[in-house]
Amino acid sequence: MNQPPIEQPLLLGMMRLLDYPELATPQGLLAFVERCVERGLNGFDHANIYGLGQCESRFGEALRLRPGLRRQLQLISKADIVPAAQDGSRWRVKHYNTGAAYLTEAVEASLARLGVERLDGFLLHRPDPLLQADEVVRALQALVESGKVGWLGLSNAEPLHWQVLGRELPLRCNQIELSLLAQQSAWDGRLQAMQADGLQVLAWSPLAGGAFGPALQQALAEVGEALQATANQVALAWLRRLPGSPLPILGSLRWARIEEALAGATLQLDAPSWFYLAEAARGIKAP
Ligand SMILES: NC(=O)c1ccc[n+]([C@@H]2O[C@H](COP(=O)([O-])OP(=O)(O)OC[C@H]3O[C@@H](n4cnc5c(N)ncnc54)[C@H](OP(=O)(O)O)[C@@H]3O)[C@@H](O)[C@H]2O)c1
Repeated sequence: MNQPPIEQPLLLGMMRLLDYPELATPQGLLAFVERCVERGLNGFDHANIYGLGQCESRFGEALRLRPGLRRQLQLISKADIVPAAQDGSRWRVKHYNTGAAYLTEAVEASLARLGVERLDGFLLHRPDPLLQADEVVRALQALVESGKVGWLGLSNAEPLHWQVLGRELPLRCNQIELSLLAQQSAWDGRLQAMQADGLQVLAWSPLAGGAFGPALQQALAEVGEALQATANQVALAWLRRLPGSPLPILGSLRWARIEEALAGATLQLDAPSWFYLAEAARGIKAP
């Protein structure tokens, strides 16, 4: 652990890439990626299961139009979830696979879809109840030693998961659900534990997929009015105020939302504003 943090105002999440018709062509997506880089955003969060592989494939098709751009990007991907549609067993069941062969093949398949030789970061997507730590450690070490992966991280990991793997592996981050609607880790000590263990927190669904309810929307608007900021800028500032300043992974690939988030990237919330919003989201006062 204790690796330098990813220095970006935001990462861009690729899970919803197929939702945006303007990004459906390689040319359209390349122009988007170039624009991101020009605005200082170079981190793209993939997973082998997004669009059942199609999100990585589309991204790769765009990159092939301008291979030199790859050097300017930080490409992150994840694996270990096997969706039911990709389960070859008779049960056709969603499950996790952290076997060495599966992880190695998953990374190689992501590299092939993206058309690159190396993932900058690779994360185990979800904690696998059947995970065999020795086997995973060997597989991930081999991926780093071969140069196919630059650095390692976890996603959705609880303290014991990262402590067990962190004994043997240099882990850079834990990617967790974190937003005003998913704030449990802010209250139960997990954020401080990650900070103490040198893990950068990457916040997935930082705007809760657009699901903020009316009471929270109202509170965000009030705080926004006081700070001359938009509701989304306030919601992202609420995250950044947390220990370790979690790095949001923005899910919307609409340019207006990206610019809005960037414009608010230095917005600061004081503690009373933070608690006012936490209370509006939870519907209960701080104990
Ligand atoms: N590690 C994991 O287990 C895990 C799980 C889930 C996600 N992730 C990562 O996290 C990334 C972000 O997740 P997310 O897409 O759920 O993040 P998000 O930024 O919380 O949500 C974005 C979605 O909310 C919609 N939305 C609706 N109203 C909105 C509003 N007022 N403001 C902003 N967005 C609004 C957006 O629609 P528009 O298109 O209209 O803007 C978009 O579909 C994913 O792409 C993926 O990389 C990781």
